[in-house]
Amino acid sequence: MDCRAALPAHDTDTAFLLSWVLVFSDNKFLLFEHFIFTTISNQRKMVKLCGIGAGYVGGPTMAVIALKCPSIEVAVVDISQSRISAWNSDKLPIYEPGLENVVKQCRGKNLIFSTDVERHVQEADIIFVSVNTPTKARGLGAGKAADLTYWESAARMIADVCTSDKIVVEKSTVPVRTAEAIEQILAHKSKGIKYQILSNPEFLSEGTAVQDLLEPDRVLIGGNEGPEGQEAIKKLKDIYAHWVSEDKIITTNIWSAELSKLADNAFLAQRISSINAMSALCEATGAQVSQVSLALSKNPKIGPRFLNASVGFGGSCFQKDILNLVYICECNGLVEVANYWKQVIKVNDYQKSRFVQRVVSSMFNTVSGKKIAVLGFAFKKDTSDTRKTPAIDVCKGLLGDDACLSIYDPRVSADQIKKDLSMNNVQWDHPIHLQPLSSSSSNGLEHVDIAEDAYEATKDAHGICILTEWDEFKGIDFQRVFDDMQKPAFVFDGRNILDVGKLREIGFIVYSIGSPVEQWLNNSVNSAVPF
Ligand code: UDX
Ligand code: UDX
Repeated sequence: MDCRAALPAHDTDTAFLLSWVLVFSDNKFLLFEHFIFTTISNQRKMVKLCGIGAGYVGGPTMAVIALKCPSIEVAVVDISQSRISAWNSDKLPIYEPGLENVVKQCRGKNLIFSTDVERHVQEADIIFVSVNTPTKARGLGAGKAADLTYWESAARMIADVCTSDKIVVEKSTVPVRTAEAIEQILAHKSKGIKYQILSNPEFLSEGTAVQDLLEPDRVLIGGNEGPEGQEAIKKLKDIYAHWVSEDKIITTNIWSAELSKLADNAFLAQRISSINAMSALCEATGAQVSQVSLALSKNPKIGPRFLNASVGFGGSCFQKDILNLVYICECNGLVEVANYWKQVIKVNDYQKSRFVQRVVSSMFNTVSGKKIAVLGFAFKKDTSDTRKTPAIDVCKGLLGDDACLSIYDPRVSADQIKKDLSMNNVQWDHPIHLQPLSSSSSNGLEHVDIAEDAYEATKDAHGICILTEWDEFKGIDFQRVFDDMQKPAFVFDGRNILDVGKLREIGFIVYSIGSPVEQWLNNSVNSAVPF
């Protein structure tokens, strides 16, 4: 009998050995055929992966690969000692639902976090690079082009330390044709080593990162079209095949993969700017943006997602990637195309400043010395991430009018909020160790208080701004809040999560993005802002 056929399917690293076992029974020695399963990973070379950059992208991505591929060793490395220490502690450096569980299952087994970047890069077969690609602050392309300093230094380090062939995977979102530049750096110092560059952009969303990684809608892998490129694509595909079905793994040429990531984010941001543009029109005409969204969502050609009007989109990707796209268009002489995408960002900026103007003008044209409660600071719910959060611009706008802010967010630390409000625009996406250490040195934050909860933030306040759609805010006892506030008491809902009718019954004056505006607010706006 062919016992192998009868055996359950096992991981490719598992083999079985046939041995003979002597058993003493009924005063006789019996000889049994005995199959012993054994992992042969110690005997043949185990695949090793190294992820450079233990951030929002690199950390969860490599952790899920480790979870799904127990036979693969995964090392996540970062130059930031504090980040790595946090990954090795009980309090992970980023908050993502389900992440702690994934990390706990693999850490110390096939997943390690380390600052020994060079050793793990040298030992790896495949290197994933997820380092920051912020917008360039100065020089050619300043304010638009991606700053590839960190990518370049990662590539140089790889070239310096590697002694065997490697596959280098672009996980970070990068400009189209970055792979070419990386290839040149690696080839220049190659010492006879062969490198294959793949583009494998990450489509996870923060707040649902683990779920998105466990059940991705697609995995995109771009590589060179020659046989070596195709072989590298196959190796990466084999890793994902541990848990992603083949029909979801798309392979393309490398430039298409790089551009697809930029296009993906640009399309999503464009949808939000489109509905936000509609929200302004709704307020002017008496239409209700949530009803317009609902009507649009029923059109299968449009679909239901990314149609929530808001105070503006934030997050580390959208603005940066569109600016990057704009720069690439301009470099290729495509001025009209560049202007088209620029408009998405302009509408986003318009939405944030429109919100601030609405607050100030409603409150008798000044918020000077008035306490405004800001509920929510993260760029969206279920994350502690504040990069490019619209709350930064809104808070700065209100502070510019001398408001006193009391800010509460369920997940963002006081130190982070103060740091964000004191940083200039170009510092936000640089690695943590290059950002200002503490908020204490910063000026202009005398009028910013960080509250422990929504009730503390709103006590004696003149107005409330909802800037993140945390579920917790829907459960606030607004009667209690109203009783403790100055009158008239205002609510400005930048996320459309509150029940406007109920709030008005209590006595609040309410503004909700894209909803018909109360007479009071309408009058103040019309007299104050020349829209
Ligand atoms: C970042 C960018 O924001 C995103 O555009 C890009 O696509 C991937 O990298 P994210 O993971 O969210 O995404 O950033 P961040 O949380 O800042 O993590 C990047 C990590 O890389 C940081 O921990 C930083 O210390 C590390 N890093 C940076 C290195 O290890 N080496 C470097 O040279 C630079
Ligand atoms: C985004 C992309 O969705 C993801 O595919 C990519 O890999 C990384 O960038 P993320 O930035 O984590 O993910 O968050 P996302 O859910 O897209 O939200 C971005 C911003 O848009 C948030 O500020 C959010 O509040 C806002 N938003 C989103 C809206 O204002 N309205 C919507 O309908 C959806």
